[in-house]
Amino acid sequence: MRSNEVRLNCGITVPLIGLGTYSFNNDRETTEQAIHVALKMGYRHLDTAKIYGSEPAVGNALRLAIEDESIRREDVFVTSKLWSADHHDPVSALKQTLRNLGMEYVDMYLVHWPVKLKPWACYAVPKEEDFEQLDLESTWAGMEKCLDMGLCRCIGVSNFSSKKVERLLEFASVPPAVNQVEMHPMWRQRKLREICADHKIHVSAYSPLGGPGNAWGSTAVVENPLIKSIALKHQATPAQVALNWGLSKGASVIVKSFNPDRLKENVASFDLKLDDEDLLEIDKLEERKMMRGEFLVNDTTSPYKTLEDLWDYEI
Ligand SMILES: NC(=O)c1ccc[n+]([C@@H]2O[C@H](COP(=O)([O-])OP(=O)(O)OC[C@H]3O[C@@H](n4cnc5c(N)ncnc54)[C@H](OP(=O)(O)O)[C@@H]3O)[C@@H](O)[C@H]2O)c1
Repeated sequence: MRSNEVRLNCGITVPLIGLGTYSFNNDRETTEQAIHVALKMGYRHLDTAKIYGSEPAVGNALRLAIEDESIRREDVFVTSKLWSADHHDPVSALKQTLRNLGMEYVDMYLVHWPVKLKPWACYAVPKEEDFEQLDLESTWAGMEKCLDMGLCRCIGVSNFSSKKVERLLEFASVPPAVNQVEMHPMWRQRKLREICADHKIHVSAYSPLGGPGNAWGSTAVVENPLIKSIALKHQATPAQVALNWGLSKGASVIVKSFNPDRLKENVASFDLKLDDEDLLEIDKLEERKMMRGEFLVNDTTSPYKTLEDLWDYEI
């Protein structure tokens, strides 16, 4: 039987199915209720970020489960992320995240984007004048300090291209354990997966369903005729096929649902077994990146003048 967790290069294990907690409305009660239901169903990996505003809901739902004695803190893997306006001081940013969560540590702390913003730019879509030059060496030194201080158990990155991962490895004392990136049957990240595997960096797939319902997302994956036909063949759902595809590539999948039926459906994707021919057919699908990051590119203050600069041509 396939293990439901994987060991990272930092020595700890991460459950392969994670619950995403980003929602545009960010209604605390709804988020908390969904996490409560998810924990009862067996989800043991929660993904949040300062910029999602969901840290208080994650912390509170987990605190209640611990008080219930249904769960121990060490049974749940919690990821949060350094927002781009906080690159100046990752230690203070993580301390704030821990206050938001009501926790003493997070399991994983990720650099959310390879982007540095002015300290006041605490909103998801930066203004044209908000950018600074990225100084990855100093940001990463701050991340390593977070680790030294025991504020997190592991550090990693998110939205890093192969080139940026390799550049980071040139000076990192501690290599990233994870690169969390968009990945689904229509954005397969083949090259990045190979580079990360070479360096023992675990790839974690965000928007594993293509983010249907999100401003940047699409139903193209869950409504894809091939994905639907594979689902039919296995008496599964398109979402289960998409999630199992990510798992079959060795990635963890960070899927968001605040709906009890879909939470159950998504966690059951683990039991599906796609055939080799299904995987080969999926490999032929047209690729389409949903989260393109146009809002991080401009001609003036952003170091990225084009999308090709931002993703180093992996777009
Ligand atoms: N590192 C980054 O930069 C980054 C970027 C984006 C996302 N993320 C993380 O990844 C998580 C997941 O990504 P995401 O929210 O963009 O996309 P996603 O998980 O691919 O899709 C979520 C959407 O799909 C719906 N859904 C969930 N299960 C479904 C199913 N079985 N069938 C049909 N629809 C289903 C959800 O609605 P319901 O809630 O109504 O079920 C929601 O609208 C985020 O919440 C966040 O934690 C990270």
